[in-house]
Amino acid sequence: MSAIFEILDKDAGGRIGKLKTPHGTVETPTVMPVVNPNIQLIPPNEMKSFGAEILITNSYIIYRKEELRSVALEKGLHGLLGFDGPIMTDSGSFQLSVYGSVEVTNEEILGFQQKIGSDIIVPLDIPTPPDVHYRRAEEELAVTAERLEAARKFITGEQLLAGPVQGSTYPELREKAASHLRDLNFDVYPLGAVVPLMESYRYAELVDVIAAAKKGLSPTSPVHLFGAGHPMMFALAVALGCDLFDSAAYAIYAKDGRYITVNGTYHIEKLNYLPCPCPICSKYTADELKKAKNKEELLARHNLYATFAEIRLIKQSIRDGKLLELVEQRCRAHPKLLDGLKKLYTHSAWLEQLDPATKSTYFYCGPESASRPEVLRFGKRLERFSLEGSAIIRTTPVKGERSYDQLLIFKAPFGAFPAEMEEVYPFNAEVSKFPDYEALSTALSNTLKLIELNPKAKFTFVCEREFEHPLLEKIKEKAELVYRDAWKKE
Ligand code: GUN
Ligand code: ZN
Repeated sequence: MSAIFEILDKDAGGRIGKLKTPHGTVETPTVMPVVNPNIQLIPPNEMKSFGAEILITNSYIIYRKEELRSVALEKGLHGLLGFDGPIMTDSGSFQLSVYGSVEVTNEEILGFQQKIGSDIIVPLDIPTPPDVHYRRAEEELAVTAERLEAARKFITGEQLLAGPVQGSTYPELREKAASHLRDLNFDVYPLGAVVPLMESYRYAELVDVIAAAKKGLSPTSPVHLFGAGHPMMFALAVALGCDLFDSAAYAIYAKDGRYITVNGTYHIEKLNYLPCPCPICSKYTADELKKAKNKEELLARHNLYATFAEIRLIKQSIRDGKLLELVEQRCRAHPKLLDGLKKLYTHSAWLEQLDPATKSTYFYCGPESASRPEVLRFGKRLERFSLEGSAIIRTTPVKGERSYDQLLIFKAPFGAFPAEMEEVYPFNAEVSKFPDYEALSTALSNTLKLIELNPKAKFTFVCEREFEHPLLEKIKEKAELVYRDAWKKE
């Protein structure tokens, strides 16, 4: 039997995968549009034309309403929704988190999802909100664990079973919960109760929650970020190893007259132009869209196009080994996303273990790039260079450099490396000619380390006048430091 989840390509913590379900295989990362069984703005089967490969709906809403429930039991979930691809069903836990209780037990809702033929079944986990006392988070986690263990014993057929990871805003609880569930062998791992973090733009904490859960899970398991539907944060979440998202946002935003872009959301009333090439935005002007009778539906359609366009770009970026460049661009859309990016790179040591050892050219996109996993990896490998005799370190060629025993190139944010490696990854990096403070900090500290690791070599560092950094004083103590404009002109 082949695995339920197969990974085809990787970049940073992100991956392109194939998830097998009873109603077909889906390529990840992907978004599952949320379908409300009561209201259908866009017919489910039409979702495919936007790029949707799998939908998600709420089994509790179906269970509670007799008209829906009887049709679902008779014709199945796929018959009820009129969709023949994979469908994931949620359990009512979200209603539990909003209303405080639900009129169904874990066993009842599991049995119902099984009967109606859900492709991915979710137990009745307890979504513990952020910032609660540690004790409450721990206690609720214990109840969730019991229900999940019961679910794992109960669901044994070919339907997939999800094991939601809870633990509030405590990374240690998230990691503990994840490693416990890892041993129980769920098919998909949703990260739960993150909606409040996303709603209040707490992306730095979201990054810590995702990283903690991922560290507890097997790197080969598919991960779903529950309730994440805004495309501006997909790249960041994918880089951390999230494979599935679900979007009610496309419809909720449309109802409010909001127009989604990867750089944020506009209110349609405030738009004079439609900055998107989708069929809706090509056909209508901003004014026509504002006045359209079916404005809500048109906005929902645009929102879905924008959502899936980003998924395709993310997948292409993974193929190209350019995911982190995309993440760095996207995280400039909002300062709180930038905080998320900074947090992402505090996990670079972990990401470095997941990141392919060679990939396409590294692009320096700003001070955060200095903390990328590739740069960290170079710093850890400095011991591999063994240098003796006279050594010159320079940026671009200088006169007389060939008379030295060793020629090294200085490139921020990496540091100094032997010239013969210039075309080799990651030294073939595209970097700014005018390194900023962060890039210089990493590069100069690595250069200093290299000098200290090679006491048998005598170093000359030909430095640019623009390089202003306190570490240059330290380098001066161990090497001859000459500014390029003062370099001998024979
Ligand atoms: N939808 C949004 N968050 C959650 C969660 O934590 N658990 C479940 N089951 N559904 C959700
Ligand atoms: Zn559009």
